[in-house]
Amino acid sequence: MAKIDKNSFAIHKETIELNSFLQRIELKLEHAFKDRNIKFNVSCQNNLFFKADPLMLEQILVNLLDNAMKYSHVGAELELKAWREKNKIHILIKDNGKGIPKKDLPYIFNRFYRVDKSRTRSLGGSGLGLAIVKELVHAHHADIFVKSKENVGTEFELVFQGE
Ligand SMILES: Nc1ncnc2c1ncn2[C@@H]1O[C@H](COP(=O)(O)OP(=O)(O)O)[C@@H](O)[C@H]1O
Ligand SMILES: [Mg+2]
Repeated sequence: MAKIDKNSFAIHKETIELNSFLQRIELKLEHAFKDRNIKFNVSCQNNLFFKADPLMLEQILVNLLDNAMKYSHVGAELELKAWREKNKIHILIKDNGKGIPKKDLPYIFNRFYRVDKSRTRSLGGSGLGLAIVKELVHAHHADIFVKSKENVGTEFELVFQGE
């Protein structure tokens, strides 16, 4: 975070083909999901090209998927979906977990903000994950949107400029 604050981190953008990129992430996370009996559906259009820093993009997706898994019940379903709309690339991370109360939604990207401090302490989070995600997304001049409903689920949508 300190490094990010000072804007001293370097961004190295490359052309990314999203289908193979997401397949690699799926392989990396497969075991964690299996252990928790979580269904993980990945779907991506072919030929989605855009410029991004691969390490940062991976960190963005892993942080969001880690949350989706942590704040869902065993046996839940996660969806990772990507498509092109006009010249934008959309990436959706959706879970059917516990959701985020409406009153907390405006604050979840703040550093150290956690919805349920006592109950989630056992999950070992620091409340920094989404603050980092937001910084990394903005470093790409991309956008992130969140929709959530308590006891129904949460979806985060990333929007990048396509190539
Ligand atoms: N997919 C999700 N479902 C439900 N709650 C979430 C989800 N993602 C984030 N949250 C809430 O937002 C808070 C902040 O997330 P984050 O910055 O990643 O911190 P943490 O280290 O607690 O995971 C979490 O503590 C949790 O309360
Ligand atoms: Mg987190």
